[in-house]
Amino acid sequence: MHDQASALRGLVAKDINRSPKIRVLAVTSGKGGVGKTSFTVNLALALAELEQRVVILDGDLGLANVDIAFGLSAKYTIEHLISGERTIEEILLPAPRGIEIIPGGSGVQRLANLERDKLTNVIVNLGRLDKRADLLIIDTGAGLGNNVLNFLKAADDIIMVITPEPTSLTDAYGVLKTLKQEGSEASIHAVINRVQTESDALATFKRIEIVVQKFLDSSLNYLGWVYDDPFMGRSVMQQEPLGIKFPESAAYRCIQWIAGKVIGISLHPPRKAGGVRGFLSKLLRSF
Ligand SMILES: Nc1ncnc2c1ncn2[C@@H]1O[C@H](COP(=O)(O)OP(=O)(O)OP(=O)(O)O)[C@@H](O)[C@H]1O
Ligand SMILES: [Mg+2]
Repeated sequence: MHDQASALRGLVAKDINRSPKIRVLAVTSGKGGVGKTSFTVNLALALAELEQRVVILDGDLGLANVDIAFGLSAKYTIEHLISGERTIEEILLPAPRGIEIIPGGSGVQRLANLERDKLTNVIVNLGRLDKRADLLIIDTGAGLGNNVLNFLKAADDIIMVITPEPTSLTDAYGVLKTLKQEGSEASIHAVINRVQTESDALATFKRIEIVVQKFLDSSLNYLGWVYDDPFMGRSVMQQEPLGIKFPESAAYRCIQWIAGKVIGISLHPPRKAGGVRGFLSKLLRSF
């Protein structure tokens, strides 16, 4: 592992001050099914409306979610990149508004456990994303299994999707606690999904904020909230994202507002070893 880390540090150090760099945002949750994939896809669409170039990494090991949400079907996955069969340009799946998807599949598991001989190729390929896009959004699996924690620790910012359900809150708290114990430096932003009113959202946020402050001596940023909206379910069924099919819907308007705030987030000073290389460096160092 030390060999791997030093090989990587060498690669990262080569052009650490290169700019511009991509910003890495991980979308996660404690409990499954709270709306991560729907949020990720529509956040990408809203960011694209704000002239941001977005790449989504489908980091969920389960079913391919992101391409299905767009009504697309991936030909290649990150596995083909790792094996050296395909380049990053060949595996990127084009989606509307210039968004590109990196289908993850089982390759996601391997990404954080790369064999040394595959490392250089993957870093060089993913490194090209720094020039190609402004934001890399990772749709992670729920909970902390299957390398999710490594993705979270390596990201610049984490968006924690929470619903007002008590189990969603307690599971989110569990993830936050582990991140704190692991010494994560990423900023954590809460999005309260599926709310009826703005005050419901605030009440939910306050519930988790209090325990995070009291028991973790930590803080959580309130990024925003998204209405519980029947159009979301309809767009999922029709495999056409809300931001395309129902752009005037209440939920999408919330996500557009959040996208504006996400661009605000990126105004804080970038880390020195940022971008994809910084992200990969941290991802691999966690082993
Ligand atoms: N704001 C919303 N209003 C109404 N329904 C929603 C909203 N957000 C998500 N949903 C519904 O919740 C369901 C689960 O959403 P989604 O697949 O995005 O969750 P997930 O967190 O990615 O799940 P998993 O943990 O399985 O990856 C979908 O059927 C979707 O329609
Ligand atoms: Mg999902």
